[in-house]
Amino acid sequence: MRRLLPDPGDLDDAALVEAYRLPEGRSLRMNFVASLDGAVTVQGRSGGLGSPADRRIFVLLRALADGVLVGHGTAAAEGYGPVTADSRLGRLRIELGRPATAPIAVVSRRASLDPGGRLVTEAVSPTLLVTCAAADAGRRAALADAGVRVLVCGDDDVDLPLALDRLAELGLEQVLCEGGPQLLHAALLAGVVDELDLSMSPALVGAGPRLLEGALPGVVRSELRQLLEEDGTLFARYAVTPGAR
Ligand SMILES: NC(=O)c1ccc[n+]([C@@H]2O[C@H](COP(=O)([O-])OP(=O)(O)OC[C@H]3O[C@@H](n4cnc5c(N)ncnc54)[C@H](OP(=O)(O)O)[C@@H]3O)[C@@H](O)[C@H]2O)c1
Repeated sequence: MRRLLPDPGDLDDAALVEAYRLPEGRSLRMNFVASLDGAVTVQGRSGGLGSPADRRIFVLLRALADGVLVGHGTAAAEGYGPVTADSRLGRLRIELGRPATAPIAVVSRRASLDPGGRLVTEAVSPTLLVTCAAADAGRRAALADAGVRVLVCGDDDVDLPLALDRLAELGLEQVLCEGGPQLLHAALLAGVVDELDLSMSPALVGAGPRLLEGALPGVVRSELRQLLEEDGTLFARYAVTPGAR
């Protein structure tokens, strides 16, 4: 991995960890891979845009996070499972002096999480559901019975600032959000995004979902903090400037 900005040079594994480490305190970091034309999927999944280096950073960002936040659409499309200790991610977390597993928090207005799915039945750190009071009470109860920690944040819609407060109360201060586009849009509207980590895959895809589909009330400006490169993929860290929210 090469760092292009700041301080150009090669990064070994330890330097890569430092390149993504966050200062103490609460943060919401969004991680996406996109093509040059802003597509976030190839045939419905992000894997077609990825590369070994992208996968490495995906795992590293998870290893550095207290928990992972993801929209139900992404969890379903990408076949999410829980973080397990006996995995590349679990081993890296231990190397970094962190608990081997971390919870996945699924955002779903309708409480769509499947109580029989792997995210529920195989979780070591119990999976969380971030939902709202309008979600079907029976579904919420069934998920709670299955071991899911159900966080009701908001009445008709999920209140993301409240959800992040609730996660922080549970010790999940540094949250990695893995999308998808709907959740990114809602998080930008709510003004809760601190950082966007964007992998730019050297590919043009054409049709399909984009990084951001919905309108925003104004331009959200971001500041480039770091740019890495490997095999033609660029890995940018942008600080989302609070003044622009
Ligand atoms: N390239 C990448 O880095 C990347 C990253 C992530 C996803 N993706 C791709 O993006 C596609 C999914 O896109 P998407 O926009 O549908 O994903 P999404 O945001 O993960 O999922 C949308 C669903 O999640 C729930 N949700 C999201 N935001 C919410 C909010 N603010 N409040 C309440 N519920 C919320 C809702 O679930 P309910 O309907 O259950 O209420 C909604 O229908 C997949 O094909 C995935 O592969 C790509």
